[in-house]
Amino acid sequence: MRCWPACPSVHGLSFTPSLKYTHRNLNAEEILLLKAFSHTDAEVKSFLPQASNYIELAKMMNLPFWVFTDDSAPLGVVTTGKEPIQLLAPIGTPIAVIDLVQKRPRPTMVKDFVSQSLKLALEKDAKLVTVELASEEKDAIASFLENGFAVLADTFIMSRQLDQEYTPDKYLQFRVVKQDELPKWLELATKFLSGSEDVVMERILENVGHLPDHLLAMYYSTETFYFAFENGQRIGILNFSPTAGRISNIGVDPSRRGQGYGRRIMLFGLQQLKAAGCPQAKLRVHIDNKPALNLYKSLGFEVTRQLKLLIWENKNA
Ligand SMILES: CC(C)(COP(=O)(O)OP(=O)(O)OC[C@H]1O[C@@H](n2cnc3c(N)ncnc32)[C@H](O)[C@@H]1OP(=O)(O)O)[C@@H](O)C(=O)NCCC(=O)NCCS
Repeated sequence: MRCWPACPSVHGLSFTPSLKYTHRNLNAEEILLLKAFSHTDAEVKSFLPQASNYIELAKMMNLPFWVFTDDSAPLGVVTTGKEPIQLLAPIGTPIAVIDLVQKRPRPTMVKDFVSQSLKLALEKDAKLVTVELASEEKDAIASFLENGFAVLADTFIMSRQLDQEYTPDKYLQFRVVKQDELPKWLELATKFLSGSEDVVMERILENVGHLPDHLLAMYYSTETFYFAFENGQRIGILNFSPTAGRISNIGVDPSRRGQGYGRRIMLFGLQQLKAAGCPQAKLRVHIDNKPALNLYKSLGFEVTRQLKLLIWENKNA
């Protein structure tokens, strides 16, 4: 389970659309032609409503993006920028994020989109490119893998209704993390989240510590962070988003696992989300993280989706 809220780039990325890619036929051998429109191209406007969910990141962070279309509908979106966007690489690393908009595109279109979107990302100097796909999008996953992508994370999205009261735990104490304690929380999180199978979270934790202060403050403002104590000792960490109804991270000191702490911390988190008015709680967990999966299932969470995060990395960067 993890969360890095996307935040505005600190690097003042200017809007430099690639005119080369504007309304250019990308594969002359195909009968149905794939085109790419930059965000500044007037023609892109007609495709934006259907692609709206996929351009949120670009809009929020003021990043350039390209919409690939088959002329009638958007097929996918490529957003470029510099870390911190996903926090998968050191701050300042140029990256690209690919999104597939159409859920059941023709296989030939997918192949074309995958190679052309990667080509565009590399022309923009991306050292790392990611795409997140639902596990049932098999053609797209296969195409990305054929083009040098690898699976970085395979996760379940789980959720449950918050339709009951959760009793506070009288043995554990919970204290909100103050803003100046965030580095300490991150240090503990690195230790208490170990063993989660989630390399994405490990990479985020590695990079988040190097964020400039104002971005760390922004991270702090989007999530609520807690330490869990027993007898004055920090035994666990928790963070959640009351606005998104999301439990973002929970971790227990490795030496204290299997003694009921995780369940009690989760109950506290669910109680907080319910008190904040969330009708539902959701979270993300690596499919191989059996302890966490069992814990969530025992608390009534059900799997709603399976998502694979694929990554292309320039190993020489
Ligand atoms: C997941 C985690 C928070 C569970 O905390 P915990 O204190 O060890 O768990 P609890 O003792 O409260 O156990 C609660 C339930 O979790 C499940 N569970 C815990 N440890 C387990 C294990 N080793 N194997 C299988 N199931 C396990 C069981 O369903 C258990 O209920 P039960 O005791 O009635 O069988 C803890 O293992 C942890 O910090 N892991 C690393 C970080 C992490 O993975 N966080 C979640 C990221 S999504």
